[in-house]
Amino acid sequence: MALERTFVLLKPDAVARRLCGEILARFEAKGLKLAGMKMLKVTPELSKQHYAEHVQKKFYPQLEEFITSGPVVALVLEGPGAISVVRTMLGSTNGRESALGTIRGDFGMSRQMNLVHGSDGPEAATREISIYFKPEELLSYPTSLDPWTFAGDEV
Ligand code: RTP
Ligand code: MG
Repeated sequence: MALERTFVLLKPDAVARRLCGEILARFEAKGLKLAGMKMLKVTPELSKQHYAEHVQKKFYPQLEEFITSGPVVALVLEGPGAISVVRTMLGSTNGRESALGTIRGDFGMSRQMNLVHGSDGPEAATREISIYFKPEELLSYPTSLDPWTFAGDEV
């Protein structure tokens, strides 16, 4: 399992509902390390770049209206298998159907307003990180907790 970086976006509903701290605390408690973080407002252009795979879909206009409707918090999280670990922690797209114990399952009631985006694979992670962050905005740093978080042969 490689040491991976994944892109996470706390969507406008997470900011508006003041759940950013609680959601970030879950990622930190899990053992994922913050490599980057910033608050911004997604523009329509940025939304089309980020959600390029959905631009032609029927639901895209509502998705763009939602994702540009208020500030978001962009994160890069690092850890062994971070991409799939985050997707598992998010739960399925629709908060009403997502399993309890997942972020969307515990905090969400909506398919659109599902609080958090997470990259769905290595190519998406690389692409999305480069859309939201310059290389110099990402930090690598050892901490004394690293040896207690995963064994050397797990990365
Ligand atoms: P995300 O990309 O945000 O992590 O979410 P996801 O993979 O679970 O879901 P995806 O199919 O990629 O959809 C992207 C976002 O669009 C909104 N959505 N609306 N009205 C609809 O049918 C619909 N379907 C999806 C959600 O905000 C979803 O997270
Ligand atoms: Mg997706």
